Amino acid sequence: MKNIILIGFMGTGKTEIGRRIASRLAMDFIDADSLIEKNERIKISEIFAKKGEPYFRDLETKLILGFKDLKNTVIATGGGVILRQENVKMLKDLGPLILLWSRPEKIFERLEHTQDRPLIEGEKQKKIKSILEGRAPLYKKVADFEIDTSQLSLDQAADRIIKWVKK
Ligand code: S3P
Repeated sequence: MKNIILIGFMGTGKTEIGRRIASRLAMDFIDADSLIEKNERIKISEIFAKKGEPYFRDLETKLILGFKDLKNTVIATGGGVILRQENVKMLKDLGPLILLWSRPEKIFERLEHTQDRPLIEGEKQKKIKSILEGRAPLYKKVADFEIDTSQLSLDQAADRIIKWVKK
């Protein structure tokens, strides 16, 4: 099996759904953000604070470059991975891009109490809405398959993706 790539905004369930898909299909699982934190030995919020977003984006691109020989792996990407076309191109070579979508109100509900998403700190509700709106066309353009996780449990979402992958 090739790989399965999950893309989508923060709080759409990429990590948790990705884990479930991997375990049910006996695939490996990689969470790109966790791997960056592990490699750099520093939290993503601190990378943003100390080195800035472009530095983080370079780390993200370098990480994906290193995925080129991956097989049989579910990859949960960071929400901003689609911002660079080179990332999208590399990821497309690895496997289908599956977009997890959610309504902004639902994303806010899920992320309201987290403090580890530097891009939406401050006026969280407003920022979620405006960043999501700006990125929506990008996500939709590159996705091979898309599901709305607003009303789905993690298992239901994993089921739908597995069904699509197996078709
Ligand atoms: C980001 C999403 C985060 C993380 C970073 C930037 C984004 O990942 O990569 O905070 O630009 O949307 P998650 O989507 O896993 O929260």
